[in-house]
Amino acid sequence: MSHHAPAQPLTVSARGALRGRITVPGDKSISHRSLMLSALAVGESRIEGLLEGEDVLATAAAMRAMGATIERDADGVWRVHGVGVGGLLQPAQALDMGNSGTSTRLLMGLVASHPITATFVGDASLSGRPMGRVIEPLARMGADVTASPGGKLPLMLRGISPAVPITYTLPVASAQVKSAILLAGLNTPGITRVIEPVPTRDHSERMLAGFGAALSVEDTAEGKVIAIRGEAELRPQAIVVPGDPSSAAFWLVAASVVPGSDIVVGNVGLNPTRTGLITALRMMGADITEEDARIVGGEPVADLRVRHAPLRAIEVPADLAPSMIDEYPVLFVAAAFAEGRTVARGAHELRVKESDRIATMAAALGACGVAVEEHEDGMTVTGSGGEAIPGGATIASKLDHRIAMSMTVAALHARRPVTIDDAAPVATSYPTFFASLDALTGGAPA
Ligand code: S3P
Repeated sequence: MSHHAPAQPLTVSARGALRGRITVPGDKSISHRSLMLSALAVGESRIEGLLEGEDVLATAAAMRAMGATIERDADGVWRVHGVGVGGLLQPAQALDMGNSGTSTRLLMGLVASHPITATFVGDASLSGRPMGRVIEPLARMGADVTASPGGKLPLMLRGISPAVPITYTLPVASAQVKSAILLAGLNTPGITRVIEPVPTRDHSERMLAGFGAALSVEDTAEGKVIAIRGEAELRPQAIVVPGDPSSAAFWLVAASVVPGSDIVVGNVGLNPTRTGLITALRMMGADITEEDARIVGGEPVADLRVRHAPLRAIEVPADLAPSMIDEYPVLFVAAAFAEGRTVARGAHELRVKESDRIATMAAALGACGVAVEEHEDGMTVTGSGGEAIPGGATIASKLDHRIAMSMTVAALHARRPVTIDDAAPVATSYPTFFASLDALTGGAPA
């Protein structure tokens, strides 16, 4: 079974205004897909700006275990020699997915249409998350899955070749489910279709097309119809991974709520399927401006200047949910400093992330003296009107990187220190988070 790092308790105190400039590391979603698609191309791909977090390294290890050659040069560029679509080898050991739902669900899709069997294991958080949402469509394509009770990890997936192409309407708004089916379709004869009633992040579509897959996207009355023709060859690529807006999110909120702050967060990916938090923060009155807008790796990117601004409560539009799904924890932190009651509904998916992010954030903010009301599909947060929150509590991060980082941000404007019971999970997605915090606050206080 998967082991995770020993718990790393961390106490965070207010440090005054955030100032200066940092850049955010590579996008996690794009980094996973860069490794997977490069590992299926024929020839050598180069990846610049890959996120070197534990989740992405789990994907790299799994692709190596299935035959790809993946190396990191001294200058931080990754080189991948792929095996070709259809060429994945049976891994000799269980694939250890650590904390990473994206690795697990997307790789299940890849394995499903290869004549190989793989066992997937993960940490306690990942082993509690639902895999039925991918098992069901992949079984329709012919894969055979033996999962733990409740459709959980550990599970064994026996792929099949040729698999059967399907047309599948997503019952939940999930880019992971969409991507698992499209990746399975890559080695399936004929046309595999996913119908997406609610748009989710479209990195798989953009990148599959970029690697030369025959993929089309059409807007219809039922939603977006994504069709992939299987058994195409992928061409190796030179990829530049843009910075992760989900990592930038913590600084956008921190600088907005800590008085006197004025920062620039460089290299932020602004794919419109990812920018819901920026929309919500601007509705609340945040002062965020885009500088040097450009295209990196086929994605819109800009540097974001963020200055402290008084925030007011909003009713968070439910249709923003897919484009800010990973940012709700830190949005709840922003709401804790706004004037009035912020209501967020329609975000039921938060219950099945690395932790139950509604329950975990309600408990953590509540312990820090913030008035919160938990809903089945969201939360109501009564803000401080810009004042520091009480703090002075120990909160549980529940093996969830985004809880640890969100509550670090909350602690930056709290009257008393906040202890995160375990900050180790931050390494899954943002290994340089605390170094950037030090850089923006003039170093760690004594
Ligand atoms: C991701 C999709 C989202 C998101 C996750 C990354 C992806 O998950 O929460 O962090 O890379 O496709 P769901 O598809 O479960 O919503």
